[in-house]
Amino acid sequence: DWKMDSFVESSIKEIRKKVGNGRVLCALSGGVDSSVAAVLLSKAVGEQLTCVFVDHGLLRKNEGDEVEAVFGPEGEYKLNFIRANVQERFYEKLAGVTEPEKKRKIIGEEFIRVFEEEAKKIGAVEFLVQGTIYPDVVESGLGGESAVIKSHHNVGGLPDYVDFKEIIEPLRDLFKDEVRKVGLELGIPEHLVFRQPFPGPGLGIRIIGEVTAEKVRIVQDADAIYREEIANAGLDKSIGQYFAALTNMRSVGVMGDERTYDYAIALRAVNTVDFMTAEAAEVSWEVLKKVTSRIINEVSHVNRVMYDVTSKPPGTIEFE
Ligand code: XMP
Repeated sequence: DWKMDSFVESSIKEIRKKVGNGRVLCALSGGVDSSVAAVLLSKAVGEQLTCVFVDHGLLRKNEGDEVEAVFGPEGEYKLNFIRANVQERFYEKLAGVTEPEKKRKIIGEEFIRVFEEEAKKIGAVEFLVQGTIYPDVVESGLGGESAVIKSHHNVGGLPDYVDFKEIIEPLRDLFKDEVRKVGLELGIPEHLVFRQPFPGPGLGIRIIGEVTAEKVRIVQDADAIYREEIANAGLDKSIGQYFAALTNMRSVGVMGDERTYDYAIALRAVNTVDFMTAEAAEVSWEVLKKVTSRIINEVSHVNRVMYDVTSKPPGTIEFE
């Protein structure tokens, strides 16, 4: 693709010019955006780059280890890779907080603090890289097109207390499909490039209401089953984004002879071109029934599973 080819070339030049021989810290989440940003930066500035992966305890099941396997010391990229294990710290900050924007804000700020701390350990870091893409910019009200819909934690410039000189957002003008093309251009493996997007605040915005370690475990297990069955049905490449969310609703059910009073899981699957609008995917009844029965049987404290058929707008893709 000539367009993405020249994008890679020109942004590598631009990055080198901007960075000089300064040190760069990259926020690596393992999602396609930050992975592409990290590899792009490493092509541009090599050893000057350090990638920090924040395991905030709001990742999908086994995701922390999977990201480490690809980008860590055993992986194929020779990145300076740091995994910050800050799960407890995030759970403590989020305890008792139910308001969606407040949760996002806490997660976003804590993210920045963790980077700041890691940066101080490395010393003299001047630049911070983020994998912000164009739809994030627009939805945060910075693109001039819309009011603030949701505050995206990875957009919005530098908070006062951060002493990096500058933020580098090499993918800021790109839509998702363009980011994927750049990823392929950079030789990133397809399984990473076509991985479905995962929001920065992670499961924190897929758990309605208060986040607790137990709720994280529930949504992780339900989501892992859902993803496994979507893949078994051969749908993993055709659906834009799909995941399980934990509603904050508990309701009465019956299991054997026992009355239960447990949570409802919501399944979401959407098709979209640019994530600005989306339609619910028509996942077959057969697949949904299988996922439901597995979740109910295998995940404790869930007694109902629902499928969200709302499009965006008026719904958003995530729940908070
Ligand atoms: P919504 O819920 O706004 O999601 O319809 C649109 C797309 O953006 C992702 N998303 C985020 N990504 N930080 C991110 O990096 C965020 O705070 C965030 N919120 C939503 C969402 O997963 C979907 O792909």
